[in-house]
Parts: sequence; C-alpha cells; structure tokens
Amino acid sequence: MYAPGVGRIVRDDPEHPDPGFAELYASLPDATDREPWLGWCRAAGGAVLYLGVGAGRLAVPLAGAGIEVVGVDAHPAMLDHLRRRLPEADLLLARIEDLRLERRFGLVLGPSGVLGTPERLAAAARHARGLVAMELMNPHWLLAAGHPGVRVLRATGGGAEIEVDYPGGWTQRAQVQLLWPEEVERLLAPAGLGLELMRGRDDDGGLADSETYFVLARARRTASRTAGATSSAKRRSWVSTSSASGHRT
Ligand SMILES: C[S@@+](CC[C@H](N)C(=O)[O-])C[C@H]1O[C@@H](n2cnc3c(N)ncnc32)[C@H](O)[C@@H]1O
Repeated sequence: MYAPGVGRIVRDDPEHPDPGFAELYASLPDATDREPWLGWCRAAGGAVLYLGVGAGRLAVPLAGAGIEVVGVDAHPAMLDHLRRRLPEADLLLARIEDLRLERRFGLVLGPSGVLGTPERLAAAARHARGLVAMELMNPHWLLAAGHPGVRVLRATGGGAEIEVDYPGGWTQRAQVQLLWPEEVERLLAPAGLGLELMRGRDDDGGLADSETYFVLARARRTASRTAGATSSAKRRSWVSTSSASGHRT
C-alpha cells in the first residue's frame, strides 16, 4: 500500500507485475458505457476470451449483462481482485503472447492497447474462430498538443514514453507503440486477420479527435464474401485524420 496523498507512479509490466498498478485498476469505477464491447459480445454468442482482463472494470459489467467471460491476465493481483468479484469466471494467469488454449472463441477482445504488438495479436488470432476486437491509442490524438492529464515525455520513431494521470493521485508511466490507424491493416495481416471495422470512440465513429480507436478484425479462415463486402463499406466511413489507455473517468 502506498501512503495516501503521495504521488503514485505505476507501470504495466507483465514481466514484473507492479502491485500499485493492480491497486490503481481495483480503485477505478466500473465502466458505465459497455459499448461497443457488449454489442460485439452478444453478436458473437457464447463465451468470449478477454485478454488483459484486469481487475474487472469492464469484465464485471459484461458479465452482469450475461456474457460468459474467460479472462487472461499476467498480473496475479488483478486476477485476485477479479476472482473476488466474479467467483464463477474462468480466469487464467498467463502472458498473452504465451497463451495456447485448446479452445477457440467467437470473439477475442483486448481493450486498452493490450493487443498492440505482433506477438499478442497473433495469440488473439490463434484463439479466434471469428472476430478479434481491440482498442488502440490514437497517435494523431496523442501527438497533438494539450491534453490535460496526459504527457508525452518522448516520442521517437514508432514509440512514445507517456504519463497518464488518474483520479486519486495515480500516474501511469508507459512506453507505447504508435500504431497509426492508416497502418492497422499491416499489423493485422501477419496474424491472419482482415479489417472488418475501424472507428473512433464516439458514435459517429470519427477518428479526428478520438483519444483511442476501436478495431474489429476477422480471422481470415472464417471470412465470408458477405463480411468482405461489409468491411469495404464500413472502412470508407472512418475519418483518416487521426497501453495507458484513457480509462480516467
Ligand atoms: C490497462 S489495463 C486494462 C485492464 C482492463 N482491460 C480494463 O479495461 O479495465 C491492462 C491489463 O492488461 C494486462 N496485461 C498487460 N500486458 C499483458 C500481457 N503481455 N499478458 C497478459 N496480461 C497483460 C495488465 O496486467 C492489465 O491488467
């Protein structure tokens, strides 16, 4: 436990889990807006695989809506907290990149930028028999000046060192990869995924001012002609101006 009132800097480090990071996530209120995740979970049907499930900020509201969540996280204290909240849930302590379950899912989800590396995306894809859904930080937004509570300490080439403030005096320091929306298809292709939908946070889907963006991708072996047609139509609708992750409300 940290002393109250003292600034608390935490990191998301799956190799050396930071106790303060789990304490921060356990202190966050549950998500009140469950979309687009809930709609995607319902459309997929059956159990969903949630990678980087954390302490339950989103998993608990999804489970409350009747979704069967199989959760994976590398942080023991995150899972301890979540087990107390969802005692019936199937929760696995593992690094995403090492995951090899003998089971595939209609939907694999990874919010909070957690699927932003080729190794983790490949792990998501090998457990998907349908869709992979993720949320990524938007470099267009991040590198634009003046976001209260978010500081870019350094930005070099494909990455940035950032700090994000949270209520309660917490600050998360993170090394993030800059994954540009324009280049997402190049990230998906080696994992055998095809882009189905990309949109910003707001309902209008625009990326210009969106802090993060959502990507829905389909495992190619199950892609249908219909899905391909839908994909092209939806792709045209995104606005091309555009794992600290902005759960700061
Ligand atoms: C930013 S938190 C988000 C937690 C949850 N998705 C939420 O929205 O509340 C990221 C979570 O992913 C986990 N994580 C990060 N990298 C991971 C990895 N390589 N393997 C497994 N879990 C990882 C962290 O331990 C943490 O619980």
